[in-house]
Amino acid sequence: STAPAAAPVRDYDELISSLPVKQTFIPIRKYLEFWFPEGHLPGIMAIRQHFRPRPDDLFLMSFPKSGTTWLKALAFATMTRAHYPWDRHPLHSLNPHDVVPFMDDLFAAGQASKLEALPSPRVLATHMPYSLLPDSITSSGCRIIYICRDPKDAIVSLWHFAEKASAEKGREGFPFDRFFEMACEGKFPYSPIWDHSLEYWKESLRRPEKVLFLKYEEMLEEPAANVKRLAEFLGCPFSEDEEKGGVVEEIITLCSFEKLKSMEANKKGSQEAAVYKVSNASFFRKGGTGDWRNYGSPEMAQKLDEIVLEKLEGSGLTI
Ligand code: A3P
Repeated sequence: STAPAAAPVRDYDELISSLPVKQTFIPIRKYLEFWFPEGHLPGIMAIRQHFRPRPDDLFLMSFPKSGTTWLKALAFATMTRAHYPWDRHPLHSLNPHDVVPFMDDLFAAGQASKLEALPSPRVLATHMPYSLLPDSITSSGCRIIYICRDPKDAIVSLWHFAEKASAEKGREGFPFDRFFEMACEGKFPYSPIWDHSLEYWKESLRRPEKVLFLKYEEMLEEPAANVKRLAEFLGCPFSEDEEKGGVVEEIITLCSFEKLKSMEANKKGSQEAAVYKVSNASFFRKGGTGDWRNYGSPEMAQKLDEIVLEKLEGSGLTI
């Protein structure tokens, strides 16, 4: 990278060390109503204190492992569809996380100035819950897209991700049952999961023109309808000519799991600025729904389902 090396943010060390701590596959700490990866807390605190959005910023939000990478690719490809030929699109040579920066990492690494250099409209991502976003984001009229996934699949996905990261560092892994249990207790990175989704859901009902709530499973089932929703929300709906010309399908194909996984840029390299450094390839594991059945027992699933059902009761949200 040509960017100057920046020191990790240290300003919040004292506050962070005073917060309740718990060891999962990484240490997490409770800040306000959520648990966060310790390494991301300086970033999250710096975002809350220093981030200045532009009115035309687009934010992509998610609980980890809910389809963030896919959403980044889809939003970017949709917004820039007039700028590049499909066969020479930037997503052929860049990982989706390289085109849509993860703010929690950049702020933690003291590299927030990189965001200033981006041209408008910027597309930025964070795993922060809605209630912790700074007013500068929530009251500035910026558009927000949230992607939600069956928490059981997100947990399995995160477990694999964590196992891979541990293996790469030569560390011992974490038993799946214990991992799942922590998620059920809500003491888990960016958790409780149900509150994370519920907050964005409520805001999407309150301000549908500014907050779009998408579901990973629905996007897999009906990609075209969801890409069209996305484009309409972004204020750039597909014209009749575009639809006839197969532009929606081009976007879906370019951003499909198989296509992205097969690209050289996603087979090599890593997210260098990441607090928890991960290979680009680790963002493309299996895709699809229901993989939790291969790891958890029906009893474990039922337990989480019951918790989630109770927490979401009356909200109209099912996940
Ligand atoms: P699995 O581990 O279940 O395969 P995130 O992007 O939020 O980190 O989520 C990663 C999950 O999304 C992984 O799930 C990954 O395989 C899946 N994924 C990545 N790219 C995808 C795509 N283009 N379409 C569908 N799923 C995708």
